[in-house]
Amino acid sequence: MSKKPLIVFEGIEGSGKSYHLKNVIKYLKKQKKKFIQIREPGGSENSEKIRKLILDNKSTFNKNTDLLLYLSSRSENIELIKKNYGKKIILIDRFVDSTVAYQHYGMGVDIRFIKLVNDFLLKDIIINFTFLNLVNSKNMKERLFKRKKLNRYDQFNTNFYTRVQKGFIKIQNENKKKYMKINSNLDITNNKKIILNKIKELV
Ligand code: TMP
Repeated sequence: MSKKPLIVFEGIEGSGKSYHLKNVIKYLKKQKKKFIQIREPGGSENSEKIRKLILDNKSTFNKNTDLLLYLSSRSENIELIKKNYGKKIILIDRFVDSTVAYQHYGMGVDIRFIKLVNDFLLKDIIINFTFLNLVNSKNMKERLFKRKKLNRYDQFNTNFYTRVQKGFIKIQNENKKKYMKINSNLDITNNKKIILNKIKELV
């Protein structure tokens, strides 16, 4: 495998993905490895503008508009990814699986359209590995409750996040070799170790 892999962190709200991503970044900095870090929605300058629009609590877009905005945000990131692809390690906080999990499994938008546009945008870009962070409803709710500010996508009902998480699991079941499931209900220190060990193998 490439030593400059593209690695994605996925999972629902409160699953700990951003925490683990930060920890991986700390490790890569220490190792003086070249990497770029992107989040979706957001990442590049233009994508961050789109992120604000989607997640603003005052926004009232319908599910198709949301989908198109998430895809627009991705479209603005692709150049950044292409520029660094194979040259630097690329870490992404959410990517194409989030769109399938949230917009299809969560909201019921046609999966064929999502896949078509994702394929169109990614072309030859391959995701080398994905950490899928999983959390139970109780812990998810507790962790969301602790957040100072909730955005528009932090406020759906528990059933919605359950559907999304089941969607993520279905996606990883299709290609298990490229995924690692992280049970974020378990000890966080041990999970950190598990993730870093895999990162050492990947980079
Ligand atoms: P974040 O809080 O992890 O940055 O993610 C923002 C929200 O955007 C999160 O609720 C998941 C959602 N999202 C989608 O619904 N579809 C997507 O394609 C992406 C990338 C994120």
